[in-house]
Amino acid sequence: MSKFGNKKKNTIQTFIKKKAKGEKIVVLTAYDAFMASLLDRAGVDSLLVGDSASNVLHGHKSTLPITMDIMVAHTAAVARGTEHALIIADMPFLSFQPSIETAILNAGRFLKEGGAEAVKIEGGLEMVSTVKRVIECGIPVMGHIGLTPQSIHRFGGPKVQGRKDKSQTYLKESALALEEVGCFSCVLELMETETAAAITSSLKTMATIGIGAGPNCDGQVLVINDMLGLMDEGFRPKFLRQYADLPPVITEAVKAFIADVTSGQYPSEDESY
Ligand code: KIV
Repeated sequence: MSKFGNKKKNTIQTFIKKKAKGEKIVVLTAYDAFMASLLDRAGVDSLLVGDSASNVLHGHKSTLPITMDIMVAHTAAVARGTEHALIIADMPFLSFQPSIETAILNAGRFLKEGGAEAVKIEGGLEMVSTVKRVIECGIPVMGHIGLTPQSIHRFGGPKVQGRKDKSQTYLKESALALEEVGCFSCVLELMETETAAAITSSLKTMATIGIGAGPNCDGQVLVINDMLGLMDEGFRPKFLRQYADLPPVITEAVKAFIADVTSGQYPSEDESY
């Protein structure tokens, strides 16, 4: 029994069982220990240490600049704050594309140094042989198809995927191939609802986790900063439901601190030694 009750540690089997029972899977991103602990205690099934950290924490315009070392540090922090949720680390740009050996060694770092229990690898059919070898090495893999942000320049922007026959066929074949080599789950990002629904129902064991892919996936994921309102003002994709608006709360707290310090009201006698 853990300090948060007798709920067990989630594993990749949790995803597979939930899909089989038709129970929705809830995933959020996390990048640090404190937030991970909050989300874990709130009851999410899994925490994804997304390479979205590049945008939402480090201020880059894309996910391309973030490095393995930074992602491993974020993953280790999340692992320190998590008791129950399955921890999935996102493999950053060029940490798996150059060769299968590179992919295995970097995926292994997330388990050895970061305390992750699975990794996420972007890409469909073209990545299947890499994903297969990583899984054969004992490292569970979550796939990621649809709009894969590491290829944003190839897509020419955040364009909804699966709208044309050719793209639908590629996505469906990719999902089946990823399931075949043993992925336990797969993110479907920015994809037409019907395509995501068809993919989800065609899969027996690989759970689909949607983001901008409609309601018929086996689960949903959001970037924690986005759902709390902690993102650029210009970033308002249609799929994003904002569950809190933290910027005004933070601004008010900081303004109150500035006022108290400048007027000499902080610290008080009680707050002094
Ligand atoms: O990096 C990330 O946060 C992701 C999710 C949006 C799926 O890949």
